[in-house]
Amino acid sequence: FSCGVVIVAAGRGERAGQSAEGPKQYRIIGDRPVITHTLDIFATWRGVGPIVVVIHRDDEALFAAARVRLSSQADLLVVHGGASRQLSVLAGLEALSGAGPRHVMIHDAVRPFIDHALLDRCRAALESGAGAVLPAIAVADTLKRATDGRLVEETVPRAGLYAAQTPQCFRLEEILAAHRRACASGRSDFTDDASIAEWAGLPVILVEGAVDNVKLTLKRDISMADERLTRDAV
Ligand code: C5P
Repeated sequence: FSCGVVIVAAGRGERAGQSAEGPKQYRIIGDRPVITHTLDIFATWRGVGPIVVVIHRDDEALFAAARVRLSSQADLLVVHGGASRQLSVLAGLEALSGAGPRHVMIHDAVRPFIDHALLDRCRAALESGAGAVLPAIAVADTLKRATDGRLVEETVPRAGLYAAQTPQCFRLEEILAAHRRACASGRSDFTDDASIAEWAGLPVILVEGAVDNVKLTLKRDISMADERLTRDAV
């Protein structure tokens, strides 16, 4: 099993508001930057290949400060991202392709509560032959469509609906080819990599996600994550 990792961390995190600590992947939770927690989980997982971290060119100093807080030695390759998540992933995949692992896991830096059991489920799916693996959680809430943000137009049946998480896992050469084609065709708005695989006609297989594997998006997500880690440390 050979599996590289691309961690995307080049976003500006505008929905979490401005902060002296910089974008949300560098905010401190439980005493260390968000991205440090995320990287440590991958760096301590058995069998992981090179880890490519995609950062914004303005964040070199923030990343250097986060890197020294890692508790494990990691084989990290750092590259600069693009104007959208999709383009940042493509930059990471291009960098990884030189190193040549067979599979890749693509993960958002802002999901620091990823755990080894979820990585093991992803690995098992890849080893059983799946070419594209998506961790996801069945939607629990009743869903409404309100295009103008106020008037409810309809209730969307939630049966068969899943919320997508990361890491999304692929055969490296297949997802890289799909990403290159998406970019060449002028698309830069895919919000996850499974949707690029779907667009390219690759079958995507679900595995059970983890309820804790939330994406830190808003300011209150960061404070809740900090409270949680501080509480767990007591
Ligand atoms: O903005 P969003 O919540 O979708 O970001 C998900 C992940 O993608 C974050 O870790 C963010 O840093 C990353 N990202 C990126 N390059 C961008 C935009 C987002 O690496 N241009």
